[in-house]
Amino acid sequence: MTESASLYRDDGSLWLEGVALETLAERFGTPLYVYSRAIIEDRYRSFAHAFAGSPGSLSCYAVKANSTLAVLGVLARLGAGFDIVSGGELQRVLKAGGEASRVVFSGVGKSAGDIAMALDAGILCFNIESAAELERIAAIAGARGRVAPISVRVNPDVDAQSHPYISTGLRENKFGVDMAEARALYRRAATLGSVRVSGIDCHIGSQITSLAPFVDAMARVLALVDELADAGIVLEHIDAGGGLGVVYRDETPPATAEYARAVIAQLGGRKLRLLTEPGRAIVAPAGVLLTRVEYLKRNGERGFAVVDAGMNDLLRPALYGAWMGIEPVRPRTGALETWDIVGPVCESADFLGKERLMTLAEGDLLAVRGAGAYSYAMSSNYNSRCRAAEVMVDGDAAFLVRERECFADLVRGERLLPAGG
Ligand code: LLP
Repeated sequence: MTESASLYRDDGSLWLEGVALETLAERFGTPLYVYSRAIIEDRYRSFAHAFAGSPGSLSCYAVKANSTLAVLGVLARLGAGFDIVSGGELQRVLKAGGEASRVVFSGVGKSAGDIAMALDAGILCFNIESAAELERIAAIAGARGRVAPISVRVNPDVDAQSHPYISTGLRENKFGVDMAEARALYRRAATLGSVRVSGIDCHIGSQITSLAPFVDAMARVLALVDELADAGIVLEHIDAGGGLGVVYRDETPPATAEYARAVIAQLGGRKLRLLTEPGRAIVAPAGVLLTRVEYLKRNGERGFAVVDAGMNDLLRPALYGAWMGIEPVRPRTGALETWDIVGPVCESADFLGKERLMTLAEGDLLAVRGAGAYSYAMSSNYNSRCRAAEVMVDGDAAFLVRERECFADLVRGERLLPAGG
């Protein structure tokens, strides 16, 4: 596939690369997640190319967006870096063929066990988020005879008034440390033999659809970089975080190249290796969720299409009120009606979309777009529902990359109390 790989219609039906989605639903059942290898590769390459002008730059894919081994494997083969938030994610990256030396470790709650694992693996950097974490990492590294590369995650307190969609870069959020504390942490780190000050990072939020917040945050972080340099603390890298938005409906996020140009321009002539942590922008457009209409029903005026995927499969609409595109895989003719697309889970919040205009019949197959990111990765077994299967399409071929769960999976590790009690 070329640069423009995407979901498309041919002969009235939806396709991903050389595969008709209908055939996948028949072969693997529903609900079913389907990803395009070509789109994942295009999206990652767009980051790699856009930042290529900045020497040594590395895009560290945020594993939390989609941690399926096959997805990580595709990215590892491109030489991707990875941004992890747990030992589990680190093990996934390594199992998928990723290199520890390209891994940055984010998150406010790194456990002692996870820190030890990451040290032993030899990751690129720990993005530390508190004074207590710095001390813990230093102690664990010291005890293991290692030196931990660290970066301080700065919370730039970007003005919420001007950028209301930013949710993690404000002082009231739990993430990062403020500028004053960052200075103190760098001074402290410089005295610790078991840590090596390597960089600085920030991540101000997700699904950001304009450049201004990124530019604002970078400017603030770079002011601190310069101040530290004047004080003799010279950093090797700056990690601009993730957050670049995608189109779910009518958003107009900057193109990757535009985003990269703005970030690189902020850097000016500073000799800093530039890291980024994109998640959604790489995988969201690469995935669809296929779900079948089980029943059509009406409660008064309201029409409900009950589908076989629920909030346990795709939580974003229920949790954030997120709007995701839903369309029939093979649209039928007939009068358009307004439907709430709801799942089988016993919660009123169990919907995939509300008031969608389409012509539906029971048994119809629907596709939810943009389901490559924060979709399977946030799924659960609520209502004792088995999680969906996942398929990766590569040209004309389709590979089952995760089996549908079965009842034995649901009860694995569970025990009844002993008999007779
Ligand atoms: N780096 C850090 C430290 C992060 O916390 C995140 C996302 C990323 C990178 C990647 O951000 P992205 O490029 O994907 O925007 N579940 C929510 C999104 C949560 C994002 C959490 N952090 C959703 O479904 O919209």
